[in-house]
Amino acid sequence: MESQLRCPPDCRTMGIMPGNPSTLRSTIDKVLAQHAGRPGPLLEILHQVQHELGHVPGDAVPMIANGLNLSIAEVHGVVTFYHHFRDHPAGRHVVQICRAEACQSMQGVALAEHAGRRLGVGFNGTTRDGRVTLEPIYCFGNCACAPAVMIDGELHGRVTPEKFDALIATLGQGK
Ligand code: FES
Repeated sequence: MESQLRCPPDCRTMGIMPGNPSTLRSTIDKVLAQHAGRPGPLLEILHQVQHELGHVPGDAVPMIANGLNLSIAEVHGVVTFYHHFRDHPAGRHVVQICRAEACQSMQGVALAEHAGRRLGVGFNGTTRDGRVTLEPIYCFGNCACAPAVMIDGELHGRVTPEKFDALIATLGQGK
């Protein structure tokens, strides 16, 4: 049986213009203020920044570090440790392929290779037209329906190369 779970929308493409430093500054200040006084807020702050900006710009790292009285290296380390955080804007659609063990053992490797060929990009790459960003994920918790793919927050199970192509072909239609 196919698994299709609706996940909360990711506002990756709703971002502000990343090149506008005053907007970046005001966004970071707002997010820091919302988490002021809370214990260990770094991850929540990073999630909110990515939600609002579509990514965590490199220039945001020292601002966040300063606001939390952390070193830039500490914040940078967390941003780069979690694959979820992007340092650049995503395409209009985000295609995430599970790279964890259960999916790998169920044709996930071949599916990932097919996806790369089909889209013409590697993981963490965006198609030249800005339409699709391809990202690796390490388990959606959908292992029983491996291999799993999430497209714009919608989870698909038992994805074959043919099914992948059909899903990609519908991107942008009616959305
Ligand atoms: S290993 Fe792919 S969803 Fe769990």
